[in-house]
Amino acid sequence: MSADRPFFITTPIYYVNDLPHLGHAYTTVACDALARFMRLDGRRVKFLTGTDEHGQKVEQSARAAGISPQEFVDRISAEFRDVTRLLDVSNDDFIRTTEPRHTRSVQALWQELERRGEIYLGRFAGWYSVRDEAFYDEEELIGGKAPTGAEVEWLEEDNYFFRLSAWQDRLLAYYEANPEAVAPRSRRNEVVSFVRSGLKDLSISRTSFTWGVPVPGDPKHVVYVWLDALTNYITALGYPDINNEDFITLWPTTLHVVGKDILRFHTVYWPAFLMAAGLAPPHRVFANGWWTVEGRKMSKSLGNVVPPKQLVDAYGVDPVRYFMLRELPFGSDGDFSHRAIVGRLNSDLANDFGNLAQRVLVMINRDCDAAVPEPGPFDAADQRLLGTAGDLLETVRNHMVEQAFHVALESIWRVVAEANRYVDEQAPWVLRRSDPVRMRTVLYTLAETIRHLAILAQPFVPGSATKLLDQLSVAAGSRDFAALGASPLVAGTHLPKPAGIFPRFVEAPTA
Ligand code: MSP
Repeated sequence: MSADRPFFITTPIYYVNDLPHLGHAYTTVACDALARFMRLDGRRVKFLTGTDEHGQKVEQSARAAGISPQEFVDRISAEFRDVTRLLDVSNDDFIRTTEPRHTRSVQALWQELERRGEIYLGRFAGWYSVRDEAFYDEEELIGGKAPTGAEVEWLEEDNYFFRLSAWQDRLLAYYEANPEAVAPRSRRNEVVSFVRSGLKDLSISRTSFTWGVPVPGDPKHVVYVWLDALTNYITALGYPDINNEDFITLWPTTLHVVGKDILRFHTVYWPAFLMAAGLAPPHRVFANGWWTVEGRKMSKSLGNVVPPKQLVDAYGVDPVRYFMLRELPFGSDGDFSHRAIVGRLNSDLANDFGNLAQRVLVMINRDCDAAVPEPGPFDAADQRLLGTAGDLLETVRNHMVEQAFHVALESIWRVVAEANRYVDEQAPWVLRRSDPVRMRTVLYTLAETIRHLAILAQPFVPGSATKLLDQLSVAAGSRDFAALGASPLVAGTHLPKPAGIFPRFVEAPTA
């Protein structure tokens, strides 16, 4: 993905049969960090999230709640929208599959597929899992259940089918020609061998319930919820109008971030639907891993499903964002535990970064008349630190284009550690009496390093980084990556009174 191209980034759209939880928050936060990074890097970005509101599962949940499907989806979708604000997420659009723009788009895609001879009417007889909203072959079942553990039911209906079997070779050619299209690499191998093993035509309509987009020309059928849901990505770019500015510039320079459980839908069905409709497949699909909580799978029956609000109330939004992206390689599974987040919060955020900023800003406030100090000549140690800070953007960028968030953060924190070592070595508090010019040079070097760190930390911990940049009196227009090299701190600029950025987490005393 070239660095200067416009960039379209999407989360999965979340099913509204469930309330938002930690797992949903994870993908959304990761996409947000990337979207913010790309914007700060000068790229035009569209960042999309939203809710998946049709299908049998949602219809059943509405019935269980004793309200109409529409009332039900309105209520839960609003909860997902609230979570984006709670997590400081900068999405440009929030799509709901019950919106008229989406119905129009799904029906247009259907008609295009039909026009091109990719759809036929047939009889489906097979296993369906409502929880997964997926069809399974007899051979895939394990002990009478879906491979995911979900219940399956026998289904026999007249369905429309998509000629997926005809797309096997073209899908394999697409993976071959686009080695970056499915990530991480282990997932790519998984997808390629699945497609190599042969594809069957896919049922893409249902008649046994009505909560969905009616099939054009045959409204007894509703469109299969996955064909409906996947189309959201192009609805948001104005499909079926493919000549509008958004579609032209943002498709297919796209990154779909999805959970590992829904990779097949995004890397097999979706590119096949698109190619069959004469559209380009997306540039990249990245599958993130799953969190357990305190060592256990999250589930309603265990009663350990963690709402994002509970996390934000306990730890604060930025520590939660930081932890999620720092703790694990994106793509791997991991465990979310109180101990682990408090460890990161207190060591990486409060001790390492927070203390560095606080120490430096307090000294500047006290010993330099609360203004950016005028530096004298820089010695080798100063130049080394400033050089390391100056090189950081390129390093972080290289990791971000690979969605290696944890390595990007690791490299930022390596500079935090270096700056902390430099403070200890230079001991500006000693220089205060012995060599005030040198003290000012050291404090300037540190403040300038902290400016770099704060600018680069914005995608991950936006609120805290903003506070820090405010404390450095960095102008609102000088906070993007172009300002890193172009707008160093100017001696004499007044700085406000410093205040801690990352408070330590103190355990409440147990009764
Ligand atoms: N509606 C479909 C997606 C359609 S996209 C065109 C869907 N929705 S979902 O709400 O069930 O899941 C949304 C995402 O949450 C998935 O990517 C899934 O992997 C992710 N997660 C659900 N539980 C999770 C964890 N415990 N940990 C990390 N992510 C998890 O699938």
